[in-house]
Amino acid sequence: MRLPPRPMLDWKPDGTPVDTRTDDVYYSVDDGLAESRAIFLEAIGAPEIWQNRDGFTIGELGFGTGLNFLATWQLWQRSRPDRGWLHFVSFEGFPLDREDAAQALSRWPEVAALSGHLLQAWPVRAAGTHHLSWPRDRISLTLHIGPVRDCLDASELAADAWFLDGFSPARNEDMWLPSLWPELVQRSRPEAQIATFTVAGAVRRGLSDAGFRVEKRPGYGRKRERLWGCLQPGLGVPPGRAPEAGGGQGLRVGICGAGIGGVWLARCLRDRGAEVTLFDPAAAPFSGASGNPAALVMPRLDATDTPVSRLMIEAYLAAQRAYAGRPGCDPVSVRHLPESERTRVRFDRILEDPPLGLDQLEALPGSALLHKGAVLVRPDQLARQLLEGVDTRFGAPVETVDARRRINDCAFDVLVLASGMAVGEAYRTLSLEPRLGQVDFFRSPVEAPPSAIASGHYALAVDDLRLWGATFEAHSGGQVQTSLSAQAANASALEGLAPYWVGESRRAALSSRAGVRATTPDRQPVLGPAPDEAVLPQTHAVLRHGGEPTQDVPRVPGVYLATGFGSRGFTWAPWGAQLITAQIFGDPLPVSRASRDLVAPERRALRALKRGTWPAGA
Ligand SMILES: Cc1cc2nc3c(=O)[nH]c(=O)nc-3n(C[C@H](O)[C@H](O)[C@H](O)COP(=O)(O)OP(=O)(O)OC[C@H]3O[C@@H](n4cnc5c(N)ncnc54)[C@H](O)[C@@H]3O)c2cc1C
Ligand SMILES: C[S@@+](CC[C@H](N)C(=O)[O-])C[C@H]1O[C@@H](n2cnc3c(N)ncnc32)[C@H](O)[C@@H]1O
Repeated sequence: MRLPPRPMLDWKPDGTPVDTRTDDVYYSVDDGLAESRAIFLEAIGAPEIWQNRDGFTIGELGFGTGLNFLATWQLWQRSRPDRGWLHFVSFEGFPLDREDAAQALSRWPEVAALSGHLLQAWPVRAAGTHHLSWPRDRISLTLHIGPVRDCLDASELAADAWFLDGFSPARNEDMWLPSLWPELVQRSRPEAQIATFTVAGAVRRGLSDAGFRVEKRPGYGRKRERLWGCLQPGLGVPPGRAPEAGGGQGLRVGICGAGIGGVWLARCLRDRGAEVTLFDPAAAPFSGASGNPAALVMPRLDATDTPVSRLMIEAYLAAQRAYAGRPGCDPVSVRHLPESERTRVRFDRILEDPPLGLDQLEALPGSALLHKGAVLVRPDQLARQLLEGVDTRFGAPVETVDARRRINDCAFDVLVLASGMAVGEAYRTLSLEPRLGQVDFFRSPVEAPPSAIASGHYALAVDDLRLWGATFEAHSGGQVQTSLSAQAANASALEGLAPYWVGESRRAALSSRAGVRATTPDRQPVLGPAPDEAVLPQTHAVLRHGGEPTQDVPRVPGVYLATGFGSRGFTWAPWGAQLITAQIFGDPLPVSRASRDLVAPERRALRALKRGTWPAGA
């Protein structure tokens, strides 16, 4: 089953949530919040431990109701250092529904305001990695949903402390298997601490064998003892770091390209504390492909559970969260009609084993899907808010010297190239292909609520706007122009979609807008550090003969790429911006490792080296 299982939840008469599968409680009946503070936070020396630190990372096995996270957030809010950021990375196999979490957390009025924020952003039930962030408090939560073993494998972090909170080891062995502890060591910083309520012998031995020095300490409440541990010297991974600037805050980042990719990057990097300057030769943001009057954020679901289908769901859910409540972003349910027999079969198979719950996805007659969490975005209304606090330089030619991290006459610690097809001119191995597209639209005297229908093409209505498209054509690289033939193709698609205003569209004065999408051969975007294409063929020559490279992919220091968004830039961009921001700052990975690798800029070059098709004549 693709959907993660629900917990088998019951409630004690006093309101304590119980897991009937393990017959254990989520938190102490007496005072869970005080216990959480004593067993986990005080045990690791918080809040003193995170003073004078730019970043502090806590890993937790067993997210449950989120109570430990809220206790941590509350303490962090009261004590965080000026420049610090707290990363909380948690693992959960049986996610609670929002309503159940709300019921459980309502017991703790002391953290009501914070639980309100958490519940508002509560992830939908879907396997994979969910990243939530509250920049004002400089705290983020990365939740890996799935069996603990798989999720640890999908994660990348360097924890300063671990909270082990996976029900009693006697009743829930899976969360305490000795094979998990070496995985924790690989994801720990030197001297990382470990805190847990159990002193079970097997847990002590397992942790000790893996490299933690463990000690029994006085317990809390009815528990006589608890366990504390610290990683032995010589073990653990140093945290990632923004190599170009000591701690990350005040990092100067220059971004090329003010499309949806560059603008979301500017927002995420600014929220994380970077000084961001955004360049575009056009006079205003969203002058390229991103500038249609409306765009649709909807999922592309696959029939089977593959890394690519998980990647697309991860990105879609990240986009949902990122656009929620922002200006020009309306929630909309998209009726998605199969455009061919193949799609019909795919949709039927999706519904047999859906990757998203009924709050997100429903079956409609005729094998159609209803995507209930989609978003209708009006870019012109969104730009101003996303660019708050960002230094923008529009309307002048933009010259970049990647090796020196310069844009025009400005020097930066980090450059991000988000200039659509232009990125492919400097990085040839990306093999970007331009695809021309057109939408047509008119303004109606009748105001409409947000509505959307899709079937290859789409038709959108919101307020006075009626918009439909889009064509998808080869492009030779010349001028980007609208055409009557594209208008005719869109009109015929609109008739097939048959929204209620098709008649009005024939009488209305139509406007058209064309843009060029940068597409990649595998349809996944390009997001991450730039490969050094001059050196890669030598460092990775062995690939050609089926060998394993002995070194990392060589990079252009401090340069990142964000392009290749194809037909789904509005879905990919917020997720991609979170990924690149974390990579720049050396933060825990906010996406799964598999997803990160699927969008890595070097993937095509490595494949070409393997096949012997690059470099030419080699
Ligand atoms: C007709 C049409 C309809 C679409 N509908 C949707 C939709 O409904 N939903 C969806 O998710 N996606 C949609 N897409 C796809 C989406 O628009 C793109 O994926 C997305 O806009 C790409 O964003 P971007 O920031 O990479 O590129 P762009 O928006 O093209 O931005 C690139 C920017 O780089 C600037 N630039 C160029 N050269 C340089 C340079 N040397 N230095 C600095 N800046 C430079 C350009 O001026 C431009 O502003 C549609 C595309 C088209 C064409
Ligand atoms: C004691 S509760 C955690 C309480 C939580 N820290 C809180 O603050 O509410 C234990 C959690 O571990 C999760 N869990 C149990 N077995 C698991 C497994 N094999 N993989 C992932 N999560 C698991 C349970 O679903 C449950 O949410």
